[in-house]
Amino acid sequence: MGVTHARACGKVILLGEHAVVYGRPAIAVPVPSRQVEVQVRDTPPGSGTAILACDLGTRYLAGTCNVDEHGRFLLAAVEGVLRATLLHDGPHGAPRPTWPDLEIQVRSQVPIARGMGSGAAVSAAIARGVAAHLGASLSRERLSELVYATESLLHGTPSGIDNTVVAYELPVWFRQGLGAQPFAVGVPVTLVIGDTGIASRTRESVALVRRRWEADRLRLEALFDAIGDLVQRGREAIAQGDLPALGEAMDRNQALLEALDVSDPALERLIAAARRAGALGAKLSGGGKGGCMIALTVSEAAASVEAALRAAGAGDVIAARIGKSGAS
Ligand code: MEV
Repeated sequence: MGVTHARACGKVILLGEHAVVYGRPAIAVPVPSRQVEVQVRDTPPGSGTAILACDLGTRYLAGTCNVDEHGRFLLAAVEGVLRATLLHDGPHGAPRPTWPDLEIQVRSQVPIARGMGSGAAVSAAIARGVAAHLGASLSRERLSELVYATESLLHGTPSGIDNTVVAYELPVWFRQGLGAQPFAVGVPVTLVIGDTGIASRTRESVALVRRRWEADRLRLEALFDAIGDLVQRGREAIAQGDLPALGEAMDRNQALLEALDVSDPALERLIAAARRAGALGAKLSGGGKGGCMIALTVSEAAASVEAALRAAGAGDVIAARIGKSGAS
Protein backbone atom coordinates (compact mmCIF):
# COMPACT_ATOMS: atom_id res chain seq x y z
CA MET A 1 0.00 0.00 0.00
CA GLY A 2 1.04 3.62 -0.15
CA VAL A 3 3.01 5.39 -2.83
CA THR A 4 6.56 4.58 -3.91
CA HIS A 5 8.79 7.19 -5.54
CA ALA A 6 11.77 6.41 -7.75
CA ARG A 7 13.95 8.33 -10.16
CA ALA A 8 16.74 8.02 -12.71
CA CYS A 9 18.82 10.62 -14.52
CA GLY A 10 19.88 11.35 -18.08
CA LYS A 11 23.37 11.02 -19.53
CA VAL A 12 25.73 12.40 -22.14
CA ILE A 13 28.52 10.69 -24.03
CA LEU A 14 31.78 12.53 -23.55
CA LEU A 15 33.72 10.60 -26.20
CA GLY A 16 33.23 7.55 -28.38
CA GLU A 17 29.58 7.29 -29.51
CA HIS A 18 28.87 5.06 -32.54
CA ALA A 19 32.37 3.51 -32.44
CA VAL A 20 31.27 1.95 -29.12
CA VAL A 21 28.67 -0.09 -31.06
CA TYR A 22 31.65 -1.64 -32.92
CA GLY A 23 33.59 -2.65 -29.82
CA ARG A 24 35.62 0.51 -29.19
CA PRO A 25 35.58 2.17 -25.75
CA ALA A 26 33.51 5.24 -24.87
CA ILE A 27 33.13 7.55 -21.89
CA ALA A 28 29.68 8.51 -20.57
CA VAL A 29 28.60 10.77 -17.76
CA PRO A 30 25.28 10.91 -15.86
CA VAL A 31 23.42 14.24 -15.85
CA PRO A 32 21.83 14.46 -12.38
CA SER A 33 20.14 17.80 -13.14
CA ARG A 34 17.76 16.07 -15.58
CA GLN A 35 15.63 13.43 -13.90
CA VAL A 36 12.80 11.04 -14.66
CA GLU A 37 10.46 10.69 -11.68
CA VAL A 38 8.13 7.77 -11.17
CA GLN A 39 5.31 7.32 -8.64
CA VAL A 40 3.82 3.87 -8.13
CA ARG A 41 0.58 3.34 -6.22
CA ASP A 42 -1.86 0.50 -5.65
CA THR A 43 -5.22 0.62 -7.40
CA PRO A 44 -8.45 -1.32 -6.66
CA PRO A 45 -8.44 -5.08 -7.39
CA GLY A 46 -8.99 -5.90 -11.03
CA SER A 47 -7.73 -2.52 -12.28
CA GLY A 48 -4.60 -4.02 -13.85
CA THR A 49 -1.42 -2.11 -14.55
CA ALA A 50 -1.79 1.42 -15.91
CA ILE A 51 0.98 3.81 -16.90
CA LEU A 52 0.34 7.52 -16.94
CA ALA A 53 2.89 9.22 -19.21
CA CYS A 54 2.31 12.71 -17.76
CA ASP A 55 4.46 14.58 -20.32
CA LEU A 56 2.60 12.97 -23.22
CA GLY A 57 -0.79 13.24 -21.49
CA THR A 58 -1.42 9.58 -22.26
CA ARG A 59 -2.59 6.65 -20.14
CA TYR A 60 -1.69 3.11 -21.20
CA LEU A 61 -3.36 0.01 -19.81
CA ALA A 62 -1.44 -3.28 -19.92
CA GLY A 63 -3.04 -6.05 -21.94
CA THR A 64 -5.08 -3.77 -24.22
CA CYS A 65 -4.39 -3.50 -27.91
CA ASN A 66 -4.61 0.28 -28.51
CA VAL A 67 -1.09 0.92 -27.23
CA ASP A 68 1.33 2.94 -29.38
CA GLU A 69 5.12 2.64 -29.57
CA HIS A 70 5.70 4.74 -26.41
CA GLY A 71 3.19 2.65 -24.48
CA ARG A 72 4.75 -0.61 -25.64
CA PHE A 73 8.14 0.64 -24.47
CA LEU A 74 6.83 1.72 -21.05
CA LEU A 75 4.90 -1.51 -20.53
CA ALA A 76 7.94 -3.54 -21.60
CA ALA A 77 9.92 -1.83 -18.83
CA VAL A 78 7.25 -2.93 -16.32
CA GLU A 79 7.07 -6.44 -17.75
CA GLY A 80 10.86 -6.77 -17.54
CA VAL A 81 10.93 -5.93 -13.84
CA LEU A 82 7.95 -8.20 -13.11
CA ARG A 83 9.76 -11.11 -14.75
CA ALA A 84 12.95 -10.25 -12.88
CA THR A 85 11.12 -10.23 -9.57
CA LEU A 86 9.48 -13.59 -10.48
CA LEU A 87 5.93 -12.31 -10.29
CA HIS A 88 4.77 -14.22 -13.28
CA ASP A 89 2.42 -17.08 -14.03
CA GLY A 90 1.48 -19.14 -17.02
CA PRO A 91 1.98 -22.88 -16.38
CA HIS A 92 2.16 -23.72 -20.11
CA GLY A 93 4.78 -22.32 -22.41
CA ALA A 94 6.51 -19.01 -21.78
CA PRO A 95 5.70 -17.37 -18.47
CA ARG A 96 3.38 -14.37 -18.66
CA PRO A 97 3.58 -11.62 -16.09
CA THR A 98 0.61 -11.25 -13.81
CA TRP A 99 -0.18 -7.58 -14.21
CA PRO A 100 -0.57 -6.24 -10.67
CA ASP A 101 -3.10 -3.56 -9.80
CA LEU A 102 -0.87 -0.53 -10.03
CA GLU A 103 -0.80 2.95 -11.44
CA ILE A 104 2.64 4.14 -12.51
CA GLN A 105 3.01 7.87 -13.15
CA VAL A 106 6.03 8.91 -15.20
CA ARG A 107 7.30 12.52 -15.44
CA SER A 108 10.50 13.32 -17.30
CA GLN A 109 12.85 16.29 -17.48
CA VAL A 110 15.14 14.34 -19.83
CA PRO A 111 14.34 15.54 -23.34
CA ILE A 112 13.08 12.76 -25.63
CA ALA A 113 15.17 11.82 -28.69
CA ARG A 114 18.04 14.22 -27.98
CA GLY A 115 20.85 11.71 -27.23
CA MET A 116 20.46 12.20 -23.48
CA GLY A 117 19.37 8.66 -22.69
CA SER A 118 15.70 9.41 -22.03
CA GLY A 119 14.65 5.84 -22.91
CA ALA A 120 17.19 4.33 -20.53
CA ALA A 121 16.27 6.79 -17.77
CA VAL A 122 12.52 6.16 -18.09
CA SER A 123 13.01 2.42 -18.09
CA ALA A 124 15.41 2.55 -15.10
CA ALA A 125 13.05 4.74 -13.06
CA ILE A 126 10.10 2.43 -13.79
CA ALA A 127 12.11 -0.67 -12.89
CA ARG A 128 13.35 0.92 -9.64
CA GLY A 129 9.86 2.13 -8.72
CA VAL A 130 8.00 -1.10 -9.45
CA ALA A 131 10.64 -3.29 -7.77
CA ALA A 132 10.66 -1.11 -4.65
CA HIS A 133 6.85 -0.99 -4.54
CA LEU A 134 6.66 -4.78 -4.70
CA GLY A 135 9.34 -5.11 -2.02
CA ALA A 136 11.93 -6.61 -4.37
CA SER A 137 15.55 -5.51 -4.45
CA LEU A 138 17.36 -4.91 -7.71
CA SER A 139 21.15 -4.74 -7.93
CA ARG A 140 22.65 -2.11 -10.23
CA GLU A 141 23.91 -4.89 -12.46
CA ARG A 142 20.45 -6.48 -12.76
CA LEU A 143 18.88 -3.06 -13.32
CA SER A 144 21.39 -2.38 -16.09
CA GLU A 145 20.47 -5.70 -17.76
CA LEU A 146 16.75 -4.95 -17.54
CA VAL A 147 17.21 -1.49 -19.03
CA TYR A 148 19.35 -2.97 -21.80
CA ALA A 149 16.57 -5.42 -22.70
CA THR A 150 13.98 -2.61 -22.86
CA GLU A 151 16.39 -0.34 -24.78
CA SER A 152 16.84 -3.06 -27.39
CA LEU A 153 13.17 -2.60 -28.31
CA LEU A 154 13.86 1.08 -29.09
CA HIS A 155 17.34 0.92 -30.58
CA GLY A 156 17.75 -2.54 -32.06
CA THR A 157 21.45 -3.00 -31.27
CA PRO A 158 22.45 -0.73 -28.37
CA SER A 159 26.06 -0.97 -27.26
CA GLY A 160 25.01 -1.10 -23.60
CA ILE A 161 26.56 2.21 -22.59
CA ASP A 162 23.29 4.08 -21.88
CA ASN A 163 21.83 1.43 -19.55
CA THR A 164 25.19 1.14 -17.78
CA VAL A 165 25.68 4.82 -17.00
CA VAL A 166 22.02 5.30 -16.06
CA ALA A 167 21.92 2.22 -13.78
CA TYR A 168 25.26 2.95 -12.06
CA GLU A 169 24.88 6.77 -12.02
CA LEU A 170 28.65 7.15 -12.27
CA PRO A 171 30.92 8.50 -14.99
CA VAL A 172 32.03 5.34 -16.78
CA TRP A 173 34.60 4.16 -19.25
CA PHE A 174 32.69 1.48 -21.16
CA ARG A 175 33.57 -1.21 -23.61
CA GLN A 176 31.21 -3.97 -24.78
CA GLY A 177 31.90 -7.17 -22.91
CA LEU A 178 33.85 -5.38 -20.18
CA GLY A 179 30.90 -3.39 -18.82
CA ALA A 180 31.29 -0.32 -16.64
CA GLN A 181 34.63 0.81 -15.33
CA PRO A 182 34.90 3.89 -13.16
CA PHE A 183 37.90 6.09 -14.01
CA ALA A 184 40.18 8.50 -12.22
CA VAL A 185 39.31 12.22 -12.34
CA GLY A 186 42.26 14.57 -11.76
CA VAL A 187 40.30 17.85 -11.65
CA PRO A 188 36.54 18.48 -11.85
CA VAL A 189 35.25 18.70 -15.44
CA THR A 190 32.54 21.24 -16.33
CA LEU A 191 30.31 20.52 -19.31
CA VAL A 192 27.62 22.67 -20.90
CA ILE A 193 25.00 20.80 -22.89
CA GLY A 194 23.13 22.56 -25.70
CA ASP A 195 19.95 21.14 -27.20
CA THR A 196 19.38 21.83 -30.91
CA GLY A 197 15.67 21.19 -30.36
CA ILE A 198 15.78 18.70 -33.23
CA ALA A 199 14.43 15.26 -32.36
CA SER A 200 16.73 12.53 -33.55
CA ARG A 201 16.23 8.82 -33.15
CA THR A 202 19.36 6.91 -32.13
CA ARG A 203 18.03 3.86 -33.94
CA GLU A 204 18.11 5.76 -37.24
CA SER A 205 21.60 7.23 -36.85
CA VAL A 206 22.95 3.83 -35.75
CA ALA A 207 21.30 2.28 -38.85
CA LEU A 208 22.85 5.00 -41.05
CA VAL A 209 26.33 4.22 -39.71
CA ARG A 210 25.63 0.52 -40.23
CA ARG A 211 24.83 1.16 -43.91
CA ARG A 212 28.03 3.22 -44.31
CA TRP A 213 30.01 0.42 -42.59
CA GLU A 214 28.50 -2.22 -44.88
CA ALA A 215 29.40 -0.11 -47.93
CA ASP A 216 33.02 0.57 -46.87
CA ARG A 217 34.17 -1.46 -43.88
CA LEU A 218 37.84 -0.54 -44.23
CA ARG A 219 37.20 3.20 -44.02
CA LEU A 220 34.67 2.95 -41.20
CA GLU A 221 36.83 0.59 -39.13
CA ALA A 222 39.70 3.09 -39.47
CA LEU A 223 37.40 5.90 -38.26
CA PHE A 224 36.28 3.75 -35.30
CA ASP A 225 39.93 2.99 -34.44
CA ALA A 226 40.76 6.70 -34.52
CA ILE A 227 37.78 7.42 -32.23
CA GLY A 228 38.87 4.63 -29.87
CA ASP A 229 42.36 6.22 -29.66
CA LEU A 230 40.79 9.58 -28.76
CA VAL A 231 38.73 7.95 -26.00
CA GLN A 232 41.92 6.51 -24.56
CA ARG A 233 43.62 9.92 -24.79
CA GLY A 234 40.59 11.55 -23.18
CA ARG A 235 40.65 9.09 -20.30
CA GLU A 236 44.32 9.89 -19.64
CA ALA A 237 43.65 13.63 -19.90
CA ILE A 238 40.84 13.36 -17.31
CA ALA A 239 43.07 11.37 -14.95
CA GLN A 240 45.86 13.97 -15.30
CA GLY A 241 43.49 16.94 -15.02
CA ASP A 242 44.66 18.10 -18.48
CA LEU A 243 41.50 19.87 -19.68
CA PRO A 244 43.03 21.37 -22.87
CA ALA A 245 44.02 17.84 -23.97
CA LEU A 246 40.49 16.60 -23.21
CA GLY A 247 39.04 19.51 -25.21
CA GLU A 248 41.29 18.69 -28.15
CA ALA A 249 40.17 15.04 -28.03
CA MET A 250 36.54 16.22 -28.13
CA ASP A 251 37.17 18.51 -31.12
CA ARG A 252 38.90 15.72 -32.99
CA ASN A 253 36.11 13.30 -32.08
CA GLN A 254 33.61 15.78 -33.58
CA ALA A 255 35.62 15.84 -36.83
CA LEU A 256 35.48 12.04 -36.97
CA LEU A 257 31.72 12.07 -36.25
CA GLU A 258 31.34 14.50 -39.16
CA ALA A 259 33.28 12.02 -41.32
CA LEU A 260 30.81 9.34 -40.17
CA ASP A 261 28.03 11.66 -41.40
CA VAL A 262 26.12 11.82 -38.09
CA SER A 263 26.59 15.55 -37.45
CA ASP A 264 24.32 18.26 -38.87
CA PRO A 265 24.28 22.07 -39.39
CA ALA A 266 22.28 22.84 -36.21
CA LEU A 267 24.77 20.90 -34.09
CA GLU A 268 27.71 22.52 -35.86
CA ARG A 269 26.26 26.02 -35.29
CA LEU A 270 26.10 25.38 -31.52
CA ILE A 271 29.54 23.74 -31.48
CA ALA A 272 31.10 26.74 -33.28
CA ALA A 273 29.36 29.19 -30.91
CA ALA A 274 30.65 27.32 -27.85
CA ARG A 275 34.20 27.29 -29.21
CA ARG A 276 34.05 31.03 -30.00
CA ALA A 277 32.86 31.69 -26.43
CA GLY A 278 35.96 30.00 -25.02
CA ALA A 279 35.01 26.31 -24.74
CA LEU A 280 38.09 24.08 -24.64
CA GLY A 281 36.38 21.60 -26.94
CA ALA A 282 32.90 20.74 -28.22
CA LYS A 283 31.17 17.91 -30.02
CA LEU A 284 27.81 16.31 -30.62
CA SER A 285 26.76 13.78 -27.99
CA GLY A 286 24.75 10.59 -28.56
CA GLY A 287 23.33 9.50 -31.89
CA GLY A 288 23.71 12.90 -33.63
CA LYS A 289 21.68 14.19 -36.63
CA GLY A 290 20.08 16.67 -34.22
CA GLY A 291 19.81 16.16 -30.48
CA CYS A 292 22.40 17.63 -28.13
CA MET A 293 25.97 18.85 -28.22
CA ILE A 294 28.35 19.23 -25.29
CA ALA A 295 31.06 21.80 -24.61
CA LEU A 296 33.96 21.47 -22.19
CA THR A 297 34.77 24.64 -20.32
CA VAL A 298 36.67 25.90 -17.31
CA SER A 299 34.06 26.76 -14.68
CA GLU A 300 34.73 30.54 -14.98
CA ALA A 301 33.79 30.44 -18.70
CA ALA A 302 30.65 28.30 -18.24
CA ALA A 303 28.28 31.31 -18.07
CA SER A 304 29.58 32.82 -21.33
CA VAL A 305 29.43 29.44 -23.11
CA GLU A 306 25.83 29.02 -21.87
CA ALA A 307 24.92 32.52 -23.10
CA ALA A 308 26.58 31.88 -26.48
CA LEU A 309 24.63 28.63 -26.91
CA ARG A 310 21.33 30.37 -26.13
CA ALA A 311 22.20 33.20 -28.56
CA ALA A 312 23.01 30.60 -31.25
CA GLY A 313 19.53 29.08 -30.83
CA ALA A 314 19.89 26.29 -28.27
CA GLY A 315 16.41 25.38 -27.02
CA ASP A 316 17.73 24.26 -23.65
CA VAL A 317 21.12 24.64 -21.99
CA ILE A 318 22.13 22.31 -19.14
CA ALA A 319 25.22 22.31 -16.94
CA ALA A 320 26.86 19.06 -15.86
CA ARG A 321 29.97 18.42 -13.85
CA ILE A 322 32.23 15.41 -13.36
CA GLY A 323 33.70 15.72 -9.90
CA LYS A 324 36.39 13.58 -8.30
CA SER A 325 33.67 11.46 -6.72
CA GLY A 326 31.10 11.32 -9.53
CA ALA A 327 28.74 13.55 -11.50
CA SER A 328 26.69 16.52 -10.27
C1 MEV B 1 23.77 6.32 -27.81
O1 MEV B 1 23.75 7.06 -26.61
C2 MEV B 1 25.15 6.18 -28.33
C3 MEV B 1 25.35 5.36 -29.58
O2 MEV B 1 26.72 5.00 -29.60
C4 MEV B 1 24.48 4.13 -29.65
C5 MEV B 1 24.88 3.07 -28.62
O3 MEV B 1 25.95 3.11 -28.06
O4 MEV B 1 24.05 2.15 -28.44
C6 MEV B 1 25.08 6.19 -30.83
